[in-house]
Amino acid sequence: MILTKLDISNFRNIQSLTFEPHTSLNLISGKNGSGKSSILESIQCLSTGHSFRTRRARELIQRNSEAFAVTALFRDPESSRDHRAGLQRQRDGKTDMRLDFQEISSIAEVTRLLPIKSLTPDSHKLIQEGPEERRQFLDWGVFHVEPSFFEIWRQFKRSLSQRNQLLRDGGSSQELSSWDALFLESSNKIDEFRRKYVEALAKALEIRLNTLESVFHVELQYRSGWSADFELSELLVRNADYHRRMKTTTDGPHRAEMLMLSDGIPAKQMLSRGQQKVLVYLLHLSQLDLLQTIQKRQAIVLCDDLTSELDSDHSQRVIQQLVDLRGQIFVSGVDLSVLEIQNHERIHMVNGNIEKVV
Ligand SMILES: Nc1ncnc2c1ncn2[C@@H]1O[C@H](COP(=O)(O)OP(=O)(O)OP(=O)(O)O)[C@@H](O)[C@H]1O
Ligand SMILES: [Mg+2]
Repeated sequence: MILTKLDISNFRNIQSLTFEPHTSLNLISGKNGSGKSSILESIQCLSTGHSFRTRRARELIQRNSEAFAVTALFRDPESSRDHRAGLQRQRDGKTDMRLDFQEISSIAEVTRLLPIKSLTPDSHKLIQEGPEERRQFLDWGVFHVEPSFFEIWRQFKRSLSQRNQLLRDGGSSQELSSWDALFLESSNKIDEFRRKYVEALAKALEIRLNTLESVFHVELQYRSGWSADFELSELLVRNADYHRRMKTTTDGPHRAEMLMLSDGIPAKQMLSRGQQKVLVYLLHLSQLDLLQTIQKRQAIVLCDDLTSELDSDHSQRVIQQLVDLRGQIFVSGVDLSVLEIQNHERIHMVNGNIEKVV
């Protein structure tokens, strides 16, 4: 997808801003606090309802304003179809979402049409923090390549939450088992999707690592979230007392993990900080590769503060690789003059306004 026009109002320090982005690379520079990240956040928010810096949309509403609004025109380069999406969010939580002038009830419709990949200074969490980060990363990929994933994931969340509520309330075995069919069916499907995705991702990552002639090797391994020696249905029976005692379901896809091993040792322990940063970017690039090979689609890529994360040589290389994928890219940074890349637009921000477009 290519954003052709973006309108932002009352979003953080941006009171009103309209711009027509470059179809390939947009370099957004400006002093600290000028509103660079805010532009990127507004794009992500339009697609997913929250930004990469906060899940609380209320924080994004400009101080002393009642609501923010983001509207975008975007084009599918494959079909040359134009779309329009709009999101308005009020302080009291009321949200108005529109796609092609129709009111919609779930933002997932926009997310599906307008995939956004955010690479931010927090991206190292993918290696440094707990399995939840990696499950979210995996599910971004699965969501965009498996059309039925979202509905199955919703069923899973519903059955898990009902099951856990019954475990907390001391519900009867009969009540519990009434949710098991849905829980098992959705869990096994999610497991199958994720397993297949990690296999494909591992191959894509290997190709990326080879092209970089990197000195490290990384193997991806997937863990279901329950013992590999049993079917999940068996474990629900075997561990029923344990689940009751713990007042929660301790087996299932909500406990899944994607291990990243370098020479058999977790990447978190084995790789240097710099290598870990490079690995994070390669993992995201590999997801974009899969989106392109499986779905013939490109995501819009948001790189917040890239040059503070990577040295200029690596920044240049990452951006060039993103440009080669032919998606649209937005890069923010205090000083992006070190980047020498052809075919781009430079946008300079001052106090929430675009000062000049070069
Ligand atoms: N709800 C809000 N209302 C008004 N202003 C806000 C709100 N939230 C954040 N701001 C301000 O918006 C400004 C822009 O923030 P933003 O993160 O976009 O800056 P930036 O250009 O990315 O800076 P940096 O280079 O430090 O990353 C900041 O000065 C911040 O204090
Ligand atoms: Mg910023």
